[in-house]
Amino acid sequence: MTDLFDKIEQNPGALGMHADESYGYFMFPKLEGEISNRMKFRGKEKLVWSLNNYLGLANHPEVREVDAQTAARYGLALPMGARMMSGNSDYHEQLERELSDFEKKQDTILMNYGYQGMVSAIEALVDRHDVIIYDSESHACIIDGVRLHMGKRFVYPHNDIENLSKQLERATKLTEESKGAILVITEGVFGMSGDQGRLAEIAALKKKYKFRLLVDDAHGFGTLGQTGAGTSEAQGVMNEVDIYFGTFAKSMALIGAFISSEKRVVKYLRYNLRSQIFAKSLPMPCVIGALKRLELLRTKPELKDNLWKIVHALQDGLRQNGFEIGKTNSPVTPVYLNGTIPEATALIYDLRENFDIFCSMVVYPVVPKGIILLRLIPTAVHTLEDVRYTIEAFKKIKENLKSGKYHVSRIVEV
Ligand SMILES: Cc1ncc(COP(=O)(O)O)c(C=O)c1O
Repeated sequence: MTDLFDKIEQNPGALGMHADESYGYFMFPKLEGEISNRMKFRGKEKLVWSLNNYLGLANHPEVREVDAQTAARYGLALPMGARMMSGNSDYHEQLERELSDFEKKQDTILMNYGYQGMVSAIEALVDRHDVIIYDSESHACIIDGVRLHMGKRFVYPHNDIENLSKQLERATKLTEESKGAILVITEGVFGMSGDQGRLAEIAALKKKYKFRLLVDDAHGFGTLGQTGAGTSEAQGVMNEVDIYFGTFAKSMALIGAFISSEKRVVKYLRYNLRSQIFAKSLPMPCVIGALKRLELLRTKPELKDNLWKIVHALQDGLRQNGFEIGKTNSPVTPVYLNGTIPEATALIYDLRENFDIFCSMVVYPVVPKGIILLRLIPTAVHTLEDVRYTIEAFKKIKENLKSGKYHVSRIVEV
């Protein structure tokens, strides 16, 4: 018999095993100052490419003003209690109506966090007679929601529509016997690789199979589609996406999330979504702040235009200079290099200390062994000069990596 705390200490987990040498630098770094393309890290200004502040709303003067005014007027407590019990307000309902209009859906339910909301929504939507089919590169919130599912679940290789079709065939047979239903779950934009889920092709399978489609559009909401309504708008399948999920944590630079769908589905979720029924309602500044952000997102297309100007300059520039950036067709910009985890840490250290560039690094087990993924998130507040400088710096670190300059035997200590 072991003591639980001893066991935890001995098995700190895939990320926790690097805690001692990484804390404060590679993990849990502190970016300080106004949210922008330039922020301070360890007291020194860095060019930051790691924030999902896609439209630059985090520090937009109108947003800051509304955030400050609503915090002063309502405080952070109101409304108290869960929506169902005592935490409802006209503003919560207004935001739901405006999101429904924006997403061209009948109704919307607000959620406190995207992660919890998605886990809870999957749990609420299906029972043991139903089958879930999901993309293999789905975000942790989808995976964890699927884990709660008591019935069958089938996974298809990332964006492999032929395989999805096979899984639908299997699921159809099963659900004919169980009298259950089929839920297909994918993402609008995959957050690591930046490629869009093939929503139009998935939706086309509805001609052959009976299923409902749930799309996590955390990265597509606000960045894709003519009006910014997301990946389903960009691919012309807003009607075919049965359940649209968005978070406020990225384009809206806030906290909170939502699901838009048919009235009957949202009504069901209001009474069955455990993450909302058993949790305090979103505070008023988040709700009124979200209304303001949504207004800007709708009325200031120049924010999205600025974002895409930077996205195109960065992705075209990287490609022209021989960088491997995979299949991205969204603002998420992965740069794939080859190297070990210790090399990756030496490279990031060089990039931060000598080039003053701050970006995220992703290594095994999130990507295959031997791959270093540098993840760049362009935003509307970056400049073309930021792009030029970054590409030049990346050329140098790539040369350094090739020549063995970052060859160290263990993770760089900081
Ligand atoms: C694809 C995806 N889904 C869901 C979430 C979770 O959203 P939130 O930060 O609102 O919990 C994220 C954000 O990390 C995400 O990238």
